[in-house]
Amino acid sequence: MTKNFERSILVTGGAGFIGSHVVRLLVNKYPGYRIVNLDALTYAGNLENLKDIEGAANYVFEKGDIADEQLVGSLFNTYAFDGVIHLAAESHVDRSILDPLQFVRTNVLGTVVLLNVAKKAWQGNYEGKRFYHVSTDEVYGSLGEEGFFTETTAYDPRSPYSASKASSDHFVMAYHHTYHLPVVISNCSNNYGSHHFPEKLIPLMINNIRNNKPLPVYGKGENIRDWLWVEDHARAIDLIYHKGKDGEKYNVGGFNEWKNIDLVHLLCRIMDRKLGREEGASAKLITYVTDRPGHDLRYAIDATKLNTELGWQPSLQFEEGLEKTVDWYLQNQEWVDHVTSGDYQSYYETQYHKR
Ligand code: NAD
Ligand code: TYD
Repeated sequence: MTKNFERSILVTGGAGFIGSHVVRLLVNKYPGYRIVNLDALTYAGNLENLKDIEGAANYVFEKGDIADEQLVGSLFNTYAFDGVIHLAAESHVDRSILDPLQFVRTNVLGTVVLLNVAKKAWQGNYEGKRFYHVSTDEVYGSLGEEGFFTETTAYDPRSPYSASKASSDHFVMAYHHTYHLPVVISNCSNNYGSHHFPEKLIPLMINNIRNNKPLPVYGKGENIRDWLWVEDHARAIDLIYHKGKDGEKYNVGGFNEWKNIDLVHLLCRIMDRKLGREEGASAKLITYVTDRPGHDLRYAIDATKLNTELGWQPSLQFEEGLEKTVDWYLQNQEWVDHVTSGDYQSYYETQYHKR
């Protein structure tokens, strides 16, 4: 294919939660870039997330597996990528406890396939090239009550999910040190916002509150997470892709720590107000359930480097972001229904008749 775009970027996992926000941002902000979204459409991939931009002239969707070396190689030939923004992954800790090997296959093997194909395609001609790996703060392990993860914190992953992400980060850095591949990595805290699959804490609680179902809080609800508005993460990815330094890591976080139980109570209060329920009605649904095995106590990111070197900071206060998130779920019941019934998986068949 003739390369008449200013840049050609492969985004992996663009039909998922964060990936769809990244694809939307890039497609709208850079009409001169070609954005190719490679996604296997696992249970977490949903093309309905991208309905608003699917007809854009600078956007292409390709269905496929990042671990399929032949496919990835042929996409590099077709689209002459100068950049990769790699988000495709298995992302849910509870699923990783049930099936670790799937996480090794996608997160480790899939990442190494992408690195290998990029290295072969670029053949040492790295001018203007970039391989951006999107990772998580969970690679650093679990904090006690004090302290923050910085870019130099030693890796100490403790779940099969975080171990697979840590391994993929190490491979990315190994390709930089061994082959000089121009890479950059970011490690972000927990995201929240629209289009979040309702197996993760916030969308699961919103959905259950709405449907008057029990709200399963693991253990005593005392675990702490640092929450970031997903669109702020997408802005950080755009910034780091364009301005970050090769071989560097950047931590991304909201300086916004919440105990799970306090967060669930806050959601209950917001939902009581929006649904016109009596104050305290939704909180009665809270049910303490058996804790997650190996449940990390606390994550907290120090995002000073990203702020001082690249000028990034979160744009939204948490309460404002949560209100927006709840509004989105209440106004998009059809999306939730499709996701919970599995109907979204037939969307590809009806909308895309390519493969
Ligand atoms: P997600 O589970 O919502 O989406 C993952 C996407 O990857 C899906 O569209 C899925 O179909 C696709 N995918 C899975 N396996 C694939 C394969 N073999 N080939 C091609 N596509 C495949 O995940 P998310 O929450 O959007 O996370 C995206 C990335 O950001 C992940 O790498 C995750 O580790 C990282 N991250 C997530 C968070 C968070 O809070 N969700 C925080 C920090 C970092
Ligand atoms: P989750 O959204 O799965 O993200 P992660 O484990 O990657 O941080 O979970 C966020 C926190 O909420 C985590 O401490 C586990 C807890 N949790 C519950 O208490 N109940 C639930 O039903 C879920 C899904 C999570």
